[in-house]
Amino acid sequence: MKNIVVLVSGGGTNLQALIDAEKRGELGPGHISCVISSSPKAYALERAANAGIKTRVLPKKGVEREEYTAQMVAALQEEKADLVILAGFMVIMSSALTDAFPNAIMNVHPALIPSFCGPGYYGLHVHEAVLASGVKVTGATVHFVTEVCDGGPIILQGVVPVENDDTPEVLQRRVMENVEWKLLPKAARLFCEDKIRVENGIAKVYE
Ligand code: GAR
Repeated sequence: MKNIVVLVSGGGTNLQALIDAEKRGELGPGHISCVISSSPKAYALERAANAGIKTRVLPKKGVEREEYTAQMVAALQEEKADLVILAGFMVIMSSALTDAFPNAIMNVHPALIPSFCGPGYYGLHVHEAVLASGVKVTGATVHFVTEVCDGGPIILQGVVPVENDDTPEVLQRRVMENVEWKLLPKAARLFCEDKIRVENGIAKVYE
């Protein structure tokens, strides 16, 4: 069994996809052992509680980055995390986190990295930027987290079309439904089955 700790900040639909995948037996030896939220109000906490998963809240408000990262590393070590998943986690942490869990933290980003990513590109802002640019395809990326924001080795990507009449909300939903909710559980399973290798900064998946 591998302990998966999921970090959340909001609605938690990606967390729900992970919970549903585990229920269907699709996380392999992976087991969601704890959910940690940066906000006490995140609906994701209810999703975790409904599934009987342990929850913790580490409020970000008023805590500076180094201190927050130290608190998070301590919590993850207490929880004996084998894999940490950022599922709509909206806090950027310092390199102390990736130093403590090298190539063991993954993030889902709602665009095709290296486009539309980095500081300021999160949530609906990403889809607004995609629509403003006129690109005809977008998607989502699951990647390992390094000290470079949205810059770590890419594990999986999936693509959806951008349609003429899309709003940011409509496009977000298409990206989530067709890519994020499928690829994040898949990446978690591949990790727990030891089927991802990082060589020279490139993630290779062996299915
Ligand atoms: C998801 O679209 C996720 O990719 C994005 O926020 C949303 C969270 O939704 N994450 C980022 O933008 C991180 N840079 P959820 O709380 O319903 O999973």
